[in-house]
Amino acid sequence: PVLARAYHEKVISHYEQPRNVGSLPKGDIDVGTGLVGAPACGDVMKLQIRVDENGIISDVKFKTFGCGSAIASSSYMTERVKGLSLDEAGKIKNTEIAKELCLPPVKLHCSMLAEDAIRSAIRDYRSKRSAMSNPKQSGF
Ligand code: FES
Ligand code: FES
Repeated sequence: PVLARAYHEKVISHYEQPRNVGSLPKGDIDVGTGLVGAPACGDVMKLQIRVDENGIISDVKFKTFGCGSAIASSSYMTERVKGLSLDEAGKIKNTEIAKELCLPPVKLHCSMLAEDAIRSAIRDYRSKRSAMSNPKQSGF
């Protein structure tokens, strides 16, 4: 069936041609960096977001040192969160990624890495911002 084939190709392409691989400047005040690891296998994922003045994610980059499913999960996540607010992005569940990419149960933790990474990037962005507005609390 044509539809099933199109779907399958979409999934495959996140494996073969990951989107948004790269880095954003970590020091920029509008950039949040998430760096997480999977204890089960030692794979590491870095995911960065740039947030515009309306609180919308305008750019996303990732680097994943890990298995194919982790790379595909992070690639999917970068496309999924672009254009979303931080609250919306923070609600994306690894089960959605696993379903979209047809991950088998043993690969669930790979998609968990992408969920952890986006949350960690959001946290980093927010803590940078609050450090800026509360200089005393941040220890400066
Ligand atoms: Fe080793 Fe995932 S368990 S790469
Ligand atoms: Fe560990 Fe995929 S992230 S096997």
